[in-house]
Amino acid sequence: MKDLLTLKDLSKEQFDALFDRALELKKRKKEGIMDRPLEGKSVGLLFNKPSTRTRISFETATIQLGGVSIFMNENDTQIGRSEPVKDTARVLARYIDCLVIRTFSQELVEEYASYSGVPVVNALTDMYHPCQILSDLMTVIEAKGSYNVKVAWVGDGNNVAHSWIWAASTLGFELAIACPEGFDPDSAIMDEALARGGKITIFRDPKEAVKEADIIYTDVWASMGQEAEQKAREASFEGYMVDEALMGLAKPDASFMHCLPAHRGEEVSEEVMEGASSIIWDQAENKLHMHKAILDMLINRKL
Ligand code: CP
Ligand code: NVA
Repeated sequence: MKDLLTLKDLSKEQFDALFDRALELKKRKKEGIMDRPLEGKSVGLLFNKPSTRTRISFETATIQLGGVSIFMNENDTQIGRSEPVKDTARVLARYIDCLVIRTFSQELVEEYASYSGVPVVNALTDMYHPCQILSDLMTVIEAKGSYNVKVAWVGDGNNVAHSWIWAASTLGFELAIACPEGFDPDSAIMDEALARGGKITIFRDPKEAVKEADIIYTDVWASMGQEAEQKAREASFEGYMVDEALMGLAKPDASFMHCLPAHRGEEVSEEVMEGASSIIWDQAENKLHMHKAILDMLINRKL
């Protein structure tokens, strides 16, 4: 495959190949072996929203694999002066070997991909965050031995949730989503994922969703671009904080995950963030290893 835009079209074999490569690259790095499959290659990053983890891990991944990263935003380029996407995409592809984009519209990323001669990677849109769920599932494999687990999503039916839904529908693990009415995942995505046989259920009560869960996952209530809704959302999501009491209703060895950045005292308590069941720092680290796997496999056409 050329691009990574959603997780919808990734086969189980492609998921597994990415997990295997990321785990292998992580192991080799820890052994002091520096693989350089991106020697002589450059990766462009076009980010129209803020980022700490995704940007720095993609840039570091590129450099550690022997390549060079080039960070761009709209206002430093002619994109901000309305050069058409179809022109920018074709020009950039004559220079760089991969384009990683973080922006608002999923359609924009797809337009870049359709005109770009080199791989395009979605590093978060309002609709999806595919790279996040790939590194999260790598973390689940490390923590639980496989992805055949029950994941409970507690919070907004947002971009991260949408990517979890596609992963669950292809890989067959159980996904329980607890969200208030009005904050469900996109209904077209849910319908299609269920039609594909996904074991995905929506609950209103977080206590119901977390029963027998191996992983409790949450994310901010107001995503980037929804800042004006912050106060109203805090009211709508009352009772959805992941705290010790909620963790206590899941399996005794359940782990807590969060893509970060987190808002302590809103979607998660300080105690859970810092507690023994939290695997958020491994989760954040694995973005580096998974992004290496994504870049290597797309640029070197191994996927
Ligand atoms: N999880 C994540 O994508 O973090 P950043 O917004 O810092 O990249
Ligand atoms: N749902 C969040 C994820 C941040 C990594 C957002 O889009 O802001």
